[in-house]
Amino acid sequence: MSKAKNLWGGRFRGPADEGFAAFNRSFSFDRRLLEVEVRASIAYCAALKSAEVLSDDEARRITAALHEVQNQAETKAKYINDESEDVHSFVEASLVELIGPTGLKLHTGRSRNDQVATDLRLWLRDAIDDLDGLVAAAQEALLAFAAEHSQTVIPGYTHLQRAQPILLAHWCLAYFEMLARDRERLADARKRVNVMPLGSAALAGTSFAIDREALARELGFREVSRNSLDAISDRDFCVEFANACALIMVHLSRLAEDIIIYATTEFGFFELSDAVATGSSLMPQKKNPDSMELVRGKAGRVFGHVTGLLATLKALPLAYNKDMQEDKEAVFDSFDTTTNCLEVTATVLRNITINEARAREAAAHGHMNATELADYLVRKGMPFRQAHETVGQIVVHAIKRGVELQELPIDELRALSDLIETDVFTVLSVDQTLGTKSQTGGTAPLKVSEALAAARKSLVE
Ligand code: ARG
Repeated sequence: MSKAKNLWGGRFRGPADEGFAAFNRSFSFDRRLLEVEVRASIAYCAALKSAEVLSDDEARRITAALHEVQNQAETKAKYINDESEDVHSFVEASLVELIGPTGLKLHTGRSRNDQVATDLRLWLRDAIDDLDGLVAAAQEALLAFAAEHSQTVIPGYTHLQRAQPILLAHWCLAYFEMLARDRERLADARKRVNVMPLGSAALAGTSFAIDREALARELGFREVSRNSLDAISDRDFCVEFANACALIMVHLSRLAEDIIIYATTEFGFFELSDAVATGSSLMPQKKNPDSMELVRGKAGRVFGHVTGLLATLKALPLAYNKDMQEDKEAVFDSFDTTTNCLEVTATVLRNITINEARAREAAAHGHMNATELADYLVRKGMPFRQAHETVGQIVVHAIKRGVELQELPIDELRALSDLIETDVFTVLSVDQTLGTKSQTGGTAPLKVSEALAAARKSLVE
């Protein structure tokens, strides 16, 4: 039997235009809410029983049938291949199919408006927990990568020009920090997601004696919404969620970009595993980082969802408007895209190989110890500005000679500043350059190993 019957009818004389009916339908995507729709309905059924709207027997039959609807949806793919308008009408029609008109009593004092807002919040609560686990897994992969190469040095960049050498582990921990903030944002969004609209009915509240507090407890909500108009029309939580996803995507995309660059022949620090790279149909030598390019590319669609949601909500009059049906695809795709990107990124990190020699070689070239030399002159009494100027001249000289600063003979160094003595060579090594960055947050090996331990501890907690 087709369950495509409308949820209204009394006031209508003619059928809906077929094109419009298809346009109006959301079941193709909101069927993802089926499990939470059933969960919320079972709790609501109990609330109706407590309010003496349903008899014990009716409540028992409705509850059993709701379980059956869920069961059939899980086991028979064809069952939900249906022409229903949305998930709410699907569940109601399925209920009536199973137990007859008693099924229609479940809608007492309830509206699809408070149902959909409740469902989406229940769904998002789980989605946020899943995402949090995936962000933690990506952090875990970063820590494992860092621990495996704890002594590896790479050039650090500003303006994509070699700046100062850093530990690879320090680079890993930078992304770890970004993801830690992303998890805080998810947790914060979850707080406001976890508020129950059910009992707000269509917009004005329900006239039945529904114990909303008990219902909220049953569904694991932190509290009940305080204003029915707001509860029906609030989709801030969707924007907050999409925004948390968007920032995760910003971070994954920056990581992807670093990896793509470091895996070029020109840089040559990283090599992606064959498992997450592709070849060229034409050029046999190619190994392309498609996995990371897709992560970088897919960031754009998540940003689009944030903007799309904001535009949909802007200037909507209170309370419910059908415009709001547009929220779900934005939320679902933000979740799906971010989930996939987190998983792929973790796989890339777990399998990446590193060319240690090449990285160290790069870290030792490009006059990245020039700042050390300036600091050396400062310690010998020269004002920093002047030291900066002097070392600039030394760098020009070294470039002309085609050598690094530590390769210049002492007399050539002294020709540019007689403050320089032979002890200068001890401050110019890569190890020394790293080792001096020993304040909290710096790349000194000791600090980085402390930071790694703290990161690992925070992950366990
Ligand atoms: N499918 C609808 C949505 O996603 C459910 C709410 C419909 N409410 C209404 N009054 N037409 O928003």
